Amino acid sequence: MARRPGGFGLMLPARDPETPAYRWLYDAVRGAILRGRLRPGTRLPSTRDLAAQYHLSRGTIVAAFAQLTSEGYVDGTVGSGTYVRAVLPDALLQVDPRTAARAIAHRPRRGISRYGNRVQPFPPLEVRPSRAFRPNVPALDQFPIALWAQLASRRLRRASTRLLLSGDTRGYPPLRQAVADYLATSRGVTCHPDQVMIVAGVQEALYLVARMLIDPGDRVCIEDPGYRGASQLFEAIGARVTAVPVDGDGLALPASRLRGARLVYITPAHQYPLGMAMSLPRRLALLAWARKAGAFIFEDDYDSEYRYSGRPLPALQGLDRSGQVVFAGSFSKVLFPALRLGYLVLPGDLIERFRAARSLTSRYVPLLEQTVLCDFIVEGHFGRHLRRMRQLYAERLAVLLESARHQLSGLLELSSIEAGLQTVAWLPRGIPGEAVADAARARDVEVVPLRRFYRGAMPRDGLQLGFAAVNAREIRRGVTELARILD
Ligand SMILES: Cc1ncc(COP(=O)(O)O)c(C=O)c1O
Repeated sequence: MARRPGGFGLMLPARDPETPAYRWLYDAVRGAILRGRLRPGTRLPSTRDLAAQYHLSRGTIVAAFAQLTSEGYVDGTVGSGTYVRAVLPDALLQVDPRTAARAIAHRPRRGISRYGNRVQPFPPLEVRPSRAFRPNVPALDQFPIALWAQLASRRLRRASTRLLLSGDTRGYPPLRQAVADYLATSRGVTCHPDQVMIVAGVQEALYLVARMLIDPGDRVCIEDPGYRGASQLFEAIGARVTAVPVDGDGLALPASRLRGARLVYITPAHQYPLGMAMSLPRRLALLAWARKAGAFIFEDDYDSEYRYSGRPLPALQGLDRSGQVVFAGSFSKVLFPALRLGYLVLPGDLIERFRAARSLTSRYVPLLEQTVLCDFIVEGHFGRHLRRMRQLYAERLAVLLESARHQLSGLLELSSIEAGLQTVAWLPRGIPGEAVADAARARDVEVVPLRRFYRGAMPRDGLQLGFAAVNAREIRRGVTELARILD
């Protein structure tokens, strides 16, 4: 062990006259060692120096050192010096951080629920500045943050004690009204504001629905490929998850594929991740099946605000006459993901049950944020921001398609999409998406291999490419890099 310089005066805390001198010295030196002030290998002052410094007898010091030695804090012999030991007894008693990390990494088995054992972490969003072709993220640099700050500070300045006290488990009533109006006009959702529950994003909507409608062992059908945040959650809840393939019209029926399902999770406006819309006949067939089977449909409307061509089909919820559909949407893609606000539209007979469940969990999402969002919508900023972003993303999509046509033809086939923040590009047979994603990462380009969204067989390999988050120059750079990789 390396020996550290010592011999200088040792600063010890003042002695309480009630404490015997040898006990005080023992405690003080032991404390200094354990707190790291006296590091392993440090030489302690000689008994003679300490005796002079603290006006103690040498016998007192020898007694304290003897106890420290016998307990393993120091070692040495009279004459050759006393040193702090490398391995300290209390250090052995305390948990080593590496052991603690191993304990965390090890899956706990005892004393925790089946849900607790099954639940797996969902990867967080990338926080480095956006680069081509980051999916799922809007153009955050275009968000009117100064305006948001003004609305927030106005709300805070005028905050009543009520605002500081309590909120409704379904959410701030004027916000629920604003969301209901918006959904009725732009998404064809038929609902009363009382059916709207403001939640912390679609993910919380999924959690509440899974908790309230699914028992362990129930069958849940999801799309394949699909959103892993949904399948992971249903699996953690203990559902038997069945992946149903999708085709050009969305979830591929016949309904016999859904036999026995308690709930079907779908993204009908804009299939995640492939991007097609579910056709009207499919929607009607699915609804008819759900009505007959007494099953629920979770309609995830995560980014349908962005439609660049064609007329959007109204939400499935608007076609539902028997209360089978729970509809969820989010402000993560329209405003910004860290806002963590979204909505759940519930069939009327579920409202009170969901309110009860909510009252025992988060109760409601932060009220101040809800009021600011409400002002943002009601005062027209939301509509304006949406129009601006729709135009911007349409331009960015056009840049992507145009540069891909020039540089990637024969190498990568972009699927024709009409909506959303990302598209899919099909790879030539034999080129694995994972390998392309690795090579792209090395060139500071982000693409997600389609394999990650599939549970069953993948008919064709490809990549998910986001086009909304970065400007035209960055999109062109990304296309050039992809062309180099694939060429
Ligand atoms: C298809 C899909 N559904 C739901 C979510 C979750 O959205 P939120 O941020 O509202 O929880 C995401 C997030 O990326 C998503 O891609």
